[in-house]
Amino acid sequence: MEISPSQWILIMFSTFIIGMDSLKEIEISIPVAVRVRDTISLQCKYDLEGEPLYTVKWYKGTKEFFRFVPKELPNTKVFALPGIDVDLSKSTPNEVVLRNVQPEVTGRYKCEVSSDAPYFDTKWNSGYIYVIDAPLDDPSLLIEKNYVDVGDFITGNCTTLPSYPATNVSWYLNGKRIPERFSKKLEVTPEFMSSRRKHYVTMSGIELQIMESTFQNGKAFLSCVASLFNIYRGERKEVLEEAKPRPRPSSVLSSRDERSGGQQLEILPTLIVLVFLLIIYVHR
Ligand SMILES: *[C@@H]1O[C@H](CO)[C@@H](O)[C@H](O)[C@H]1NC(C)=O
Ligand SMILES: *[C@@H]1O[C@H](CO)[C@@H](O)[C@H](O)[C@H]1NC(C)=O
Repeated sequence: MEISPSQWILIMFSTFIIGMDSLKEIEISIPVAVRVRDTISLQCKYDLEGEPLYTVKWYKGTKEFFRFVPKELPNTKVFALPGIDVDLSKSTPNEVVLRNVQPEVTGRYKCEVSSDAPYFDTKWNSGYIYVIDAPLDDPSLLIEKNYVDVGDFITGNCTTLPSYPATNVSWYLNGKRIPERFSKKLEVTPEFMSSRRKHYVTMSGIELQIMESTFQNGKAFLSCVASLFNIYRGERKEVLEEAKPRPRPSSVLSSRDERSGGQQLEILPTLIVLVFLLIIYVHR
């Protein structure tokens, strides 16, 4: 294939442009979830590889709310957006601090960095922030019955109070996570609260078959945990009890015998010590 001079020019020009790409990837570090009224820090790391910085811009969605321009005075500019209160005294070319965050702060945040002449390279990266409303109390847990037999199937429902966003519900038996296939998200109901946005009530159901191994000394603990990211966790526990102590298989009986035998054995060292003390006493 022949390459014409004009194609050569194009190829060389593109190589030149790609070679000029002075900005490396931008690293953004923002919290995934925060609470209303928190103060939060959004960080943006970039490497200009020696090129001069032209601007750093922060956007929420498509709207710019903070700009840093080293060539201008003052170098920072803030554009008003609902719920966003930039703490200018703490904001730098690499960081923006937001005070007293409001529910409206929830959304996608983008940091966009441009290098100055001659390359004017622009790169950006983004992440999502949830400003959560945690449920006001632990979830409620309703189980069919508390007294159960080995072999029974029992069902339970866990319902959370309204939250934003919807909670994740997980189940535990004796402190061990129950695999998700045994539970079912029944419904997530949107509710309008007095606050400015929708809240959600999550209901999760579980079906368990009771096994011999479910019980520890005739009891088992079933709990449901509602969580929002890593910042909220609410738990409710119910105790399941073995309905009627069943006739024990002989292996269980023998282990009981061993247990009482064990108690006899524990008396032995005490006796030895007493006899020993007596001998010392007599020999004095
Ligand atoms: C759980 O919820 C389902 C669906 O609403 C209902 O049919 C069931 O009776 C509930 N079970 C308990 C133990 O409350
Ligand atoms: C729910 O769990 C999923 C999977 O672990 C996770 O990606 C998501 O962030 C969680 N959502 C909430 C609200 O905690």
